[in-house]
Amino acid sequence: MTDSFQLLQGGANGPRRGRVSTRHGEIETPIFMPVGTQATVKAMTPAQLDDVGAQIILGNTYHLNLRPGSELVAQLGGLHKFMAWPKPILTDSGGFQVFSLAKLRKITDKGIAFQSHIDGQKIFLGPRECFDIQRNLGTDIAMVLDECPPFPCDEKDCRAAVDRTIRWAREFKDIAAGEGWLDAGHHAFGIVQGSIYEDQRKECAQALVEIGFPGYAVGGVSVGEPEPEMLRQVAASLPELPADKPRYIMGVGTPPQLLKMIALGADMFDCVMPTRLARHANVFTPNGTINLRNERFKYDPAPIVEGLDNYTCQHYSRAYLRHLVMANELLAHTLLSLHNVHFFLDLMAQARAHIEANDFESWSHQWIETYDLGLN
Ligand code: GUN
Repeated sequence: MTDSFQLLQGGANGPRRGRVSTRHGEIETPIFMPVGTQATVKAMTPAQLDDVGAQIILGNTYHLNLRPGSELVAQLGGLHKFMAWPKPILTDSGGFQVFSLAKLRKITDKGIAFQSHIDGQKIFLGPRECFDIQRNLGTDIAMVLDECPPFPCDEKDCRAAVDRTIRWAREFKDIAAGEGWLDAGHHAFGIVQGSIYEDQRKECAQALVEIGFPGYAVGGVSVGEPEPEMLRQVAASLPELPADKPRYIMGVGTPPQLLKMIALGADMFDCVMPTRLARHANVFTPNGTINLRNERFKYDPAPIVEGLDNYTCQHYSRAYLRHLVMANELLAHTLLSLHNVHFFLDLMAQARAHIEANDFESWSHQWIETYDLGLN
């Protein structure tokens, strides 16, 4: 297995600076990964992603397997070439999406049988299928197949999900190692589940560490639980993971949540929030979000964020962006997504700089206070 994480600063707990090496380049952590579910980060070109500082994006096994199919992507040279994104890609494993999108699911120890949400086709996803799809896509970081229990979930059902998650992780690792995938410099990350049960989280993390992965994720958070509970589960999971491996918190979060999790020792994040909110005219500022549909921006000559170095803020007033939104112009999606994704990436760049300067804690407290006050 290739060891490809350098912990540059920090340790098992507290904010850390790191560097993940992949077949398509390095990723400076902490980092946010824009979500490109269907081989596109919605409304943005790869050139625009590059321009706002994206280092790695996320793709999705579930969606790409259904459409256009992973064999097709493989035939056309793999996901990087297919979508013209030359930098690293992490793909989620599909199970999580089956639970939110597919119809008629049946889960056994072997995997998940379900019907496609697109055409009703019957599909089976076990560790072998999950690995084959991600290999066909040519991903840099593959995620193991896991079972994310719903929230709320009783202890017994959670236990069954954790047991399956560990079993599938072991199978996935054996397949990935057996096929030389890990030795070739690809990564596979295990996923810690356990809902709100800290003992199950710890057990799951320990079992995954025993199997041994080049990186680990915390899943099953931001699934409807209150924020303090989410932070408690992340705090319970991270100390069980090796300090010298990257830690990825799946599907989070708001800017303050990212900073709070960095403070706990998290390295990587993904979330649809910046792109999804942009398509609803919500944009991020250091003083919270604003909605550009609001009448008060009709004559506003200011950029979304004064002085922020992205194409949208450098060229356009809130009044113009509001006009695009009100007129349902497609360019609104691009310009607002570009701004929001840049806002998240810029926040991570600031976090990295403050970790290096040893003042992350005071800076992030101040940042969160200003954001939460929402004085826009
Ligand atoms: N995305 C957000 N949460 C999860 C999770 O628990 N598991 C997986 N595989 N993906 C996620």
